[in-house]
Amino acid sequence: MCTMCPKSHYSTPKWWKEAVVYQVYPASFNCSTHTSKTNGWGDVTGIMDKVPYLKGLGVDIVWLSPIYTSPQIDMGYDIADYKSIDPRYGSLSDVDLLIRTLRDHDMKLMMDLVVNHTSDQHSWFVESARSKDSPKRDWYIWRPAKGFDDDGNPVPPNNWAQILGDALSAWTWHEETQEFYLTLHTSAQVELNWENPEVIVAVYDVMKFWLRRGVCGFRMDVINLISKDQSFPDAPIIDPSSKYQPGEQFYTNGPRFHEFMHGMYDNVLSKYDTITVGETPYVTDIEEIIKTVGSTAKELNMAFNFDHMEIEDIKTKGDSKWSLRDWKLTELKGILSGWQKRMKQWDGWNAIFLECHDQARSVSRYTNDSDEFRERGAKLLALLETTLGGTMFLYQGQEIGMRNFPFEWDPDTEYKDVESVNFWNKSKELHPVGTEGLAKARTLLQKKARDHARTPMQWSAAPHAGFTVPDATPWMRVNDDYKTVNVETQMCFPWQSKGELSVWQYWQQAIQHRKLYKDAFVYGGFEDLDYHNEKIFAYLRTSADGKDSWLVVMNWTTSAVEWTVPSDIHVTRWVSSTLQTAPPVAIKSSITLRAFEGVLGCCN
Ligand code: NOJ
Repeated sequence: MCTMCPKSHYSTPKWWKEAVVYQVYPASFNCSTHTSKTNGWGDVTGIMDKVPYLKGLGVDIVWLSPIYTSPQIDMGYDIADYKSIDPRYGSLSDVDLLIRTLRDHDMKLMMDLVVNHTSDQHSWFVESARSKDSPKRDWYIWRPAKGFDDDGNPVPPNNWAQILGDALSAWTWHEETQEFYLTLHTSAQVELNWENPEVIVAVYDVMKFWLRRGVCGFRMDVINLISKDQSFPDAPIIDPSSKYQPGEQFYTNGPRFHEFMHGMYDNVLSKYDTITVGETPYVTDIEEIIKTVGSTAKELNMAFNFDHMEIEDIKTKGDSKWSLRDWKLTELKGILSGWQKRMKQWDGWNAIFLECHDQARSVSRYTNDSDEFRERGAKLLALLETTLGGTMFLYQGQEIGMRNFPFEWDPDTEYKDVESVNFWNKSKELHPVGTEGLAKARTLLQKKARDHARTPMQWSAAPHAGFTVPDATPWMRVNDDYKTVNVETQMCFPWQSKGELSVWQYWQQAIQHRKLYKDAFVYGGFEDLDYHNEKIFAYLRTSADGKDSWLVVMNWTTSAVEWTVPSDIHVTRWVSSTLQTAPPVAIKSSITLRAFEGVLGCCN
């Protein structure tokens, strides 16, 4: 691939490449106090109140997880009306005001586009389910039963398993019209039939509705699942103990995926100056990915890659989400460095993220969330993320190092996510109380449940962490550590006297630094150093003209480690450390890093 040619991503500056995107999970972000809706559920006015806060952190784009009308079976990823706002969040005019407020702060709003499926409460599906002759019947994927079992129960058309419903079929039976419909995530989320051109036109219409309102683009939910193998074959049996099997190979980047994406680009996206990021699970092949995010692809700007998110998964059997393995630093280095280099080589573009609403907290997963090391780990990850190439995504609470909630929380009451609830209920069916199997399931929840990212944002040490008024009940329990882990404490942290920045202050400074030296950090080349070192993650980021060159060195252990700077790298000054405000050390050929310390050296 030619990285020097004029169309290369790395030589073409764009606002959406340099932007810092902040993901808001609206239910858990902030409840407005000056409207009547202070009910423990975050809302759009609450987000608006925090725009100056986000500006101060260095955010350019706010991405909202879905706020559309929804029965909330999957927290809004089950949309019942794409053009209205769920009353829990507010109204369309609240969103208009949010867009204007962001604009006044030179910021933008990005929406979540969930068009692989709708809620079963969407009027399109209600109409589709009315009868086999409904004009909208073919807007969804209906199939007759394969047959009936000995008890007279209909047998689904194939053996695909639901993604969020532990060990359930991906097909849901419709008694009234005696057919199955495809529901890949939960039975309440119905797959749209993109083979029907009317569906595609309806999706374009939704997109234009929001773009005309002033949003700057979309994060596209499981967008690479929109084209399915139309023969709907059985999936191979990976887990013989389960009736249903993962079928992703038959609906990921399916036969017409690129055709559909080109259509979307030609008919909608090319007419606006947008940011687009695809959530594209299950695809790892660079050639395939580049068809979507290459500089001449005319599909999407970038896509989330999940290799590092799946580092703890055991991939050999069935649903790997609920499995856990130890991993080595070299594996994480390999994944992150690999995508840095590969995207440059293939002229694609990276979306950099360590957290989102579907993953446990990064400080709990990648570093160490004990009281002793949480802050160090969070700052180390801030240094990592702000020095990697691509568009940077920050998830709410990451900027204060929020961590997973404790093991002691009762799985029967404190986990709210449909995926966790299904997993826990299934585990209880399989393993009696007091068994090792059930204890293991509980550990898996504590390590991997999506709920950990969804606890209310910790604004202050006030009741409910300042997320809502004292007499309201937050929809999810606030993490017990909010009195020490919160925005207010960290913003007011007396760094001058402490000689160290809080996690929040470090993020703010690191974002500023990234923007100042964007030629190196956003667009520059990436060279990994000392690849086989299991304790140290080190790399060099250098601008195309060679004028800016930065050395990043991170100690990924709980003890001090000495590291020898390679002889061909000339550090002219150590600029910052995650653990002290004073520049770290005089230039020497080796440097000693304290536990979870990261340093940045200037090599110009
Ligand atoms: C991915 C979203 O991020 C997740 O939260 C949701 O459950 C599924 N897609 C289904 O929409």
